[in-house]
Amino acid sequence: MTNNVKIAPSILSSNFSKLGEEITALNSSECDYIHIDVMDGHFVPNLTIGPGVIKSIRPYTNKIFDVHLMINPVMNILPSFIEAGSDIITIHHEISDNVFDCINFIKKNNLKAGISIKPTTEAKEIIPYLELIDLILVMTVEPGFGGQKFLSNQLKKIMDIKDLISNRDIELEVDGGINYNTSKQVIKAGANVLVSGSTIFSSKNYNEAISKLRGND
Ligand code: DX5
Ligand code: ZN
Repeated sequence: MTNNVKIAPSILSSNFSKLGEEITALNSSECDYIHIDVMDGHFVPNLTIGPGVIKSIRPYTNKIFDVHLMINPVMNILPSFIEAGSDIITIHHEISDNVFDCINFIKKNNLKAGISIKPTTEAKEIIPYLELIDLILVMTVEPGFGGQKFLSNQLKKIMDIKDLISNRDIELEVDGGINYNTSKQVIKAGANVLVSGSTIFSSKNYNEAISKLRGND
């Protein structure tokens, strides 16, 4: 069964000591996006990679770089992520910057703009952005680390946001604890882009894992 579900492997769970090889492996897989988790140790209690790493892996693939900024503030460093080769930049509703200014800056630079909300943020908070954004990222774990347990209390939020999106051209992406079991639940709830880190990078065959997550098993 093939469906229109997109899979976005999160490189947070990849082997950073051979990141070039990991990107090359994803490049020859059937993943749709490469999800890049940027963390500043302030907005979330973890510190990962910045624009320099994105710039260094850009030449390895033409796959869409789906950059998830778990950082605050955002505006001052947006130009660096744009210049580094991001394709989609997703920022958090919960930041201290003016979110509309950040969205407009991303779109003015011809990138796609996403808004992410944490598990404790209600669905209705995304309503003001609906006419501006290309993607909504629902966190199904508390952001900061890979390998966490899926929060099933987010399923209702996914359904509610699906309704709010209505027939707009906005992707509904979910992120955190997405494995072969929870993938089915979030697809049923209305998600059409699935981020998955540990399930993919712990597998022996990335392509098989991607296909299984998509629902082709
Ligand atoms: C968590 C990140 C997620 C995470 C997903 O803050 O935003 O993208 O890497 O990893 P898994 O799939 O292992 O939960
Ligand atoms: Zn993420």
